[in-house]
Amino acid sequence: MILLGATTERPAAIWEGRTGKMPKVTFIKDGKATTVEFENGKLPYEHHGLPESFLDVAMNFNIPLEHACGGSCACTTCHLYIREGEQHLSEPEDKELDRLDTAWDLRTNSRLGCQAVINGDVVVEFPMYTRNYVQEGGAIQLGKSDSRDEEKKTAEAQP
Ligand code: FES
Repeated sequence: MILLGATTERPAAIWEGRTGKMPKVTFIKDGKATTVEFENGKLPYEHHGLPESFLDVAMNFNIPLEHACGGSCACTTCHLYIREGEQHLSEPEDKELDRLDTAWDLRTNSRLGCQAVINGDVVVEFPMYTRNYVQEGGAIQLGKSDSRDEEKKTAEAQP
């Protein structure tokens, strides 16, 4: 288990009533569990999703949790299954629930790692797959780039 409690400046309002707890977070990936522990209000924050979200904790402990949109609730690559400790997480907001609807193998215990904020001991599992795309208002693109680019190039090349 890894322990982290470095002091860093964070907005005080975020930590009201939450400081001093020492949540243990267990990440299970491919059957292998890694447990880390941190002190609420003391985790260095580098803008990995919401402060003390799974993504924030994972990035601080070098646990590879994909985050194609940088933690802005615009993809589902940080999708996780909550195995234990759901009561120790923030309630999901509508934007998280809307985004989760597009996740691969959505389950009743699904959360986005960048949006679920941790207040106590939790155990999470990585899904077997995630959808690795970012949706920023436009259409979703998978695979090759937009075919309209090719059409535009062809039209420009003609006299
Ligand atoms: S990192 Fe994109 S939604 Fe969480």
